[in-house]
Amino acid sequence: MIFDDLRAIQLRYGFLPKAELEGLSRRTQTPLYQIHSAASFFPHFHLAPPAKAEIRVCADMSCHLNGACDLRAELERHFAGSRSEDVQIRDVSCLGRCDRAPAVSINDEIFTNITPASAEQVARDALRGEDVSEPHAVQGHVACKADPYNDDEKYGVTRKFVLSRAWDDVLVQLKTAELRGMGGAGFPTSMKWDLVRKQTDPVKFVVCNADESEPGTIKDRFIMTNLPHLVIEGMLIAGLVTGAKRGILYIRHEYAQQEEILGEEIRRCYHAGLLGKKILGSDLDFDLEVFVSPGGYICGEETALLEAIEGHRAEPRNKPPFPGQVGLWQKPTVINNVETFINVPQILARGADWFAAQGANGSRGLKFVGVSGHVARPGVFEVPMGTPMREVIFKYAGGVRSGRSLKAFAPSGPSSGYLPASMVDVRLDFKALADAGSMLGSGAIVVCDDTTCMLDMALNAVRFYRNESCGKCVPCRVGSQKMADLLVRWMEGSVSEPEYRADLTLLDDLSQAMSQTSICGLGQIAPAPIQSVLKHFRAEIDAHVLKGQCPSGICFTAASRAGEAQRVGIRP
Ligand SMILES: Cc1cc2nc3c(=O)[nH]c(=O)nc-3n(C[C@H](O)[C@H](O)[C@H](O)COP(=O)(O)O)c2cc1C
Ligand code: SF4
Ligand code: FES
Repeated sequence: MIFDDLRAIQLRYGFLPKAELEGLSRRTQTPLYQIHSAASFFPHFHLAPPAKAEIRVCADMSCHLNGACDLRAELERHFAGSRSEDVQIRDVSCLGRCDRAPAVSINDEIFTNITPASAEQVARDALRGEDVSEPHAVQGHVACKADPYNDDEKYGVTRKFVLSRAWDDVLVQLKTAELRGMGGAGFPTSMKWDLVRKQTDPVKFVVCNADESEPGTIKDRFIMTNLPHLVIEGMLIAGLVTGAKRGILYIRHEYAQQEEILGEEIRRCYHAGLLGKKILGSDLDFDLEVFVSPGGYICGEETALLEAIEGHRAEPRNKPPFPGQVGLWQKPTVINNVETFINVPQILARGADWFAAQGANGSRGLKFVGVSGHVARPGVFEVPMGTPMREVIFKYAGGVRSGRSLKAFAPSGPSSGYLPASMVDVRLDFKALADAGSMLGSGAIVVCDDTTCMLDMALNAVRFYRNESCGKCVPCRVGSQKMADLLVRWMEGSVSEPEYRADLTLLDDLSQAMSQTSICGLGQIAPAPIQSVLKHFRAEIDAHVLKGQCPSGICFTAASRAGEAQRVGIRP
């Protein structure tokens, strides 16, 4: 696992010196080009010494709605005379703190709800060579309906099935419950596990996807903080059912606190004989470890994630074959989202009927959602699947803040596109959201008030995809840049009416080409935000292009013309 070595070198020197990479190559007998190829892919690694104060301002949806542009501009003003070896200010993709926006990272430490003055103070401390960090928020344990256990009953499902070995029964119960994947695609979990179970290869793996890097997505952070035992038990049951003897929990590197919590829980499980060899005195084995992601949204795509674990650039594989047949190190692999895994012990402890009854309006189960943007109480909420969005936004998240009204919401970050306020009664459910032309995705609800410019939000989302595209395939690599260029031109109001009509046709062609020919979901979904804005907020775009007016007063200002800063990303 080459990234552990790279991380250790970076921790020691602040970057990856050439001589150290050469030494690593000799020690591990890995060709230097291979080490360099991986290290240069991930934005987390520095191939040159960084500035003394490396300031990265999150530029994505929730932070953008909470003043990230102004924050960056203020910081740029304060440090205008600084040398580049002292201070560097750049944009960065979502830091996983959307509920405490705006967020910045200074020397790889994350600071939340930050103001220009406090960010400047931290940066000045860093400039003086001081170690900077934000104390972990002290959180009491949050009781969740999803937890079937009192403290002394934890891992009861494991105890029961290690005795009964009714593995087929597990699959039947997951199928009856109609459990679907919570990572975005909604694939039936029992089918995935059954496929791996049927593979004859004696070596198999279970991987938990805790990469969680899409703007607005924060629910897995909450789950890992409050229900780590259910994540571990879900993975363990997957191993026992499919015959996999090794599990890897892949977590984004910005979640150090959750890494600690999970590490402790894993140690407790080894101590209690729930993990390792001869589980609970049986002849069953399952080992579990945490793998810290080298970073980037694309690492959440399941095959890119597997490539990263193998020590390669996180470039998605062509599918088929699917990971269930040819996965990690070419072996059959179950890969599920954190929330999918925690649903397993719930269903097995309380039954499929209980699970079905937790949903509202005909939907099944509970759902953890993150709500951020312009709401009074941003955070993560556990709600019945099928709850109307109106209730999630207005009851759970306290409604639109500062007495403003709702203009739009993204049901699940940029991938879901934006829906107008008139559709706020849509239910939180796979089918209901698909029928509304959107998607349930990972449950990352981002709320926009009536001061928001939807062209600005579409451009923000397109830039996210452009920056996070791994560049492996042409439609996504070139198409996402082309799309961003088109929207910037529209925003500048420098397009004639005939040019605008031609642009719209081009945009449709480009969207189709990207959706149909991109290798992975990133390129396929990248057109969603602008297409949804064209569908629901067309008059607003026409006003920009044809009249040179931004109805929200955001575009055509000096600040908006300043554009984006140099960016830290897979493609800076
Ligand atoms: C660009 C991209 C990023 C993704 N990021 C995540 C992620 O952070 N977490 C996740 O569980 N799934 C993510 N997915 C979906 C995974 O590829 C995969 O479908 C999922 O982990 C399967 O688990 P599930 O069946 O439990 O949903 C992403 C997909 C794409 C295309
Ligand atoms: S669609 Fe984009 S992110 Fe996915 S493989 Fe192609 S270039 Fe990479
Ligand atoms: S932390 Fe900024 S959008 Fe998520």
